[in-house]
Amino acid sequence: MYLTKDEEKMLDGECGEVAERLFRLLVRLGDIYGADKMIPVGSVQVSGVSYKSIGDPGMEFLEDYAQKGAKVKALTYLNPAGMDLESWEEMGFPKEFAKNQIRIMDAFKEMGIVITSTCTPYLAGNLPRYREHIAWSESSAVSFSNSVIGARTNREGGPSALAAAICGVTPNYGLHLDENRIPEVVVKVDADFKHNSDYGALGYLVGKQVKNKIPYFIGLPESNTDQLKALGAAMAASGAVALYYVKDQTPDANLMDIEGLETIDVTRNEISKTYETLNSGETSDIVILGCPHASLREISEVVERVEGKTLKKPLWVCTSRIIKEAANRMGYTRIIEEAGGKIVADTCMVVSPIEEMGYETTGVNSGKGANYLPGFCKQKVVFNNIDELIEGGI
Ligand code: F3S
Repeated sequence: MYLTKDEEKMLDGECGEVAERLFRLLVRLGDIYGADKMIPVGSVQVSGVSYKSIGDPGMEFLEDYAQKGAKVKALTYLNPAGMDLESWEEMGFPKEFAKNQIRIMDAFKEMGIVITSTCTPYLAGNLPRYREHIAWSESSAVSFSNSVIGARTNREGGPSALAAAICGVTPNYGLHLDENRIPEVVVKVDADFKHNSDYGALGYLVGKQVKNKIPYFIGLPESNTDQLKALGAAMAASGAVALYYVKDQTPDANLMDIEGLETIDVTRNEISKTYETLNSGETSDIVILGCPHASLREISEVVERVEGKTLKKPLWVCTSRIIKEAANRMGYTRIIEEAGGKIVADTCMVVSPIEEMGYETTGVNSGKGANYLPGFCKQKVVFNNIDELIEGGI
């Protein structure tokens, strides 16, 4: 692989031990995947943030890097942490867990990483441009940036994303190259869509079938960015879809040749059956919305439904700290709290220890959340649309 003079210096250890170790990792990755060179990254998003996911070994590894003076070279955001970093105590997060989570955040901060723990960095001040090369790792954020924004990223693991952040580059392979961004299967949708959860169900269904192929949707109604993020998140969870196209709606879609591709037909009937597949519980003991992290519009949709009402069961709306600040200003946080719910920042239902907080059945409107909750959090799932979930909790 071609390396610049500066990159050779990193490889020779002239930029410090951590940069050398991480650059070697990038070179190894590049060699495995046949990269011709490194490319500078406009931004990075690092996963492996929750203490629940990385435990003591991950925490000690990050502290070691921070203590050795590692500093990031690109704008770097974080995936959700294991708890709301400000309200963890009043929300009942375990103290020992919180202590370790704070140590992890301190190590990241020391390295110059922005402590905005979110899977929607593009809603929180880290918006890549069309065709910009980035190194992101959370699967729904990867899908959104590749598909809806038209940026270029592979689905990085935590270590390779951290390496890109510290070294400022990533190997040029996979979805960074135009030739690997060609649709492989057409998904013909013939269904009406009423709720964002329909997009989650469709995504779950398609992800299962296409696995890591690049799907091209035809027949999808005019969809907003919240709906597309729900679709991409579910496909990335049930399959490994990191890029999709929607005819007339996403960048480059209308430039793609789809003649002769295998076609999958999806009707309302299959979407409805997917709701049944994803349901493993009868009645939820908590409802958690905001997977991927809620936009301000999605929070306002919750506000419309709970204003002036009293919820009988806990309701969390997960989002980033920045969107929560905007929700505070709009009075949304107060309205949701008066109804008995919470806007929870920095974390989500999958990476927080909800199973240790006494919850057994979680209600979600997210195909991704429904896919992961049984395995990651030992939860039964009630998968439904926002109206039914909130109605059931009033
Ligand atoms: Fe985000 Fe957590 Fe869902 S990371 S996409 S809210 S599982």
